[in-house]
Amino acid sequence: MKKIILLALLLVSIISCKKSFTKPIVDEFKRGLITDHAMVVSARVEASKIGADILKKGGNAFDAMAATQLALAVAYPFAGNIGGGGFMVYRKANGDIGALDFREKAPLAATKDMYLDSLGNVIPEKSTLGVMSVGVPGSVAGIFAVHEKLGSLPIEDIIKPAIELAKKGVVITEKQEKKFKNYQESFRKVNKDSILFEKDWKANDTIKYNALAETLTRIMTNGRDEFYKGETAKRLVSFIQENGGIITEEDLAKYDVSWRTPITFEYDDLKIISMSPPSSGGICLAQIMEMIEPYDLDQFGHNSVKSIQVITEAERRAYADRSYYLGDPDFVSIPGETLISDNYLKDRMASFSFDKATLSSDVTHGDIQVVESNETTHYSIIDQFGNSVSVTTTLNGGYGSKLYCSDLGFFLNNEMDDFSSKPGVPNMFGLIGAEANSIAPEKRMLSSMTPTIVEKDGKLLMSVGTPGGSTIITSVMQTILNVHEYSMTMQQAVNAPRFHHQWLPDVVLFEPNSFPNEIIEELQRLGYKTDEKRAPVIGKVDGILVLENGKLEGGADRRGDDTATGY
Ligand code: GLY
Repeated sequence: MKKIILLALLLVSIISCKKSFTKPIVDEFKRGLITDHAMVVSARVEASKIGADILKKGGNAFDAMAATQLALAVAYPFAGNIGGGGFMVYRKANGDIGALDFREKAPLAATKDMYLDSLGNVIPEKSTLGVMSVGVPGSVAGIFAVHEKLGSLPIEDIIKPAIELAKKGVVITEKQEKKFKNYQESFRKVNKDSILFEKDWKANDTIKYNALAETLTRIMTNGRDEFYKGETAKRLVSFIQENGGIITEEDLAKYDVSWRTPITFEYDDLKIISMSPPSSGGICLAQIMEMIEPYDLDQFGHNSVKSIQVITEAERRAYADRSYYLGDPDFVSIPGETLISDNYLKDRMASFSFDKATLSSDVTHGDIQVVESNETTHYSIIDQFGNSVSVTTTLNGGYGSKLYCSDLGFFLNNEMDDFSSKPGVPNMFGLIGAEANSIAPEKRMLSSMTPTIVEKDGKLLMSVGTPGGSTIITSVMQTILNVHEYSMTMQQAVNAPRFHHQWLPDVVLFEPNSFPNEIIEELQRLGYKTDEKRAPVIGKVDGILVLENGKLEGGADRRGDDTATGY
């Protein structure tokens, strides 16, 4: 019997490989962690564990969100943060949905041309490196807003584990050792005094974060306002201004989060719930998925030439719209409903043919009457009550602006680079921006973060998201398709090789050594420009899938130290 099952598995494997024309995925038939009740998947084992412990203690997904966010700020300074911002999409057990925008804001003294020289040229690195690239942080306000509206445990229970972790210290992984090494030059360039991360840290060393533990203790004792109006606010502003920055106490005092209505759309029998502007994630995801829905992707096969063509062409068209129409909805009017309407999207794909690549120079934003980065981190949570949370949070670049406030123990973001400094000039992710995303005081910069929740037949199916700057949207989409169209497990869906196109530059990025030469060569013959070198990693997806028997399967991306924990 065992032999027959093995033979059947082998046969299925051969058929599915043949159908998809790709190399077999390394983890064929592999499932991720399975749990009965609840799960957290994040970039670090310490954070997933702290989140899962909160759930075990009786806390809900929202309590675990706050605890995981803080634990990542300690264990994963590369992107976890209290000096940055992010977005959360949620679905409560009763089906209610919502979204929180705790994105950074431009300081009051920010101006449209603040990154241009007297000749109108972009000043290199001014929006990416150092104090002028910092936006007013939103993460602490985000944590407290979530806890106040949706949490259940006392805030002390939620903040304490991160404080303890900071005091006890975090063991450095091999991947972290490499990252610290890669960023030494920038750390030295930006910071006046030597910082904690300049030491020659090696894998298995333990870093203790005493200054951060003190900051978190003050926040635990005095609440949200400690960060925005209290002693921490004053010390942060002094530090920023000593370094020549423009953020004031008024900027911090005026910061607030915004509860938003998520973007929802249907794809086959799925309902997809994703982040609304100022993230482009939800609208762009909806556009791409609605443009590809009429095609038989499952028949074409996973990562086959035809599937790559259809997805690439939809991505090209969606990213062209992103660049033109999207920005902070509190400042610009976005034709959201039209952008994701059937007629508009059918029209957008009308110029697509399987015979030949469309040129990005022939695609501009669609004609609509307007009435009037890679370095982020994501965590997914499903609790024992059936609530789900999908959060993507960021400092923008790895270690943000690289400016580290040693006094308070955290890095500051370089989120100002997500604005378009000058329409037509690409940001650090190569994204071209337009007027809708120009800089203004208190405006939020456009994002690609795409925290997403998927329902099937009215029931929760998946919580998913990823870092990766401009590649976030396309990685989230491929993960959903991998489960829905290509019947992969959550872990396989997360691990499968990915590709990406974003209109400009007009090139399809492939993960190196992951796609067979025949596929790449056939795409080149059809007129696609391809690049297998520039994107060693496309996204680092963390997701949770609700299985048919009600159990949960975690997908923790093999590309990082990501870990699923639960019970
Ligand atoms: N900073 C990357 C993003 O918001 O998309």
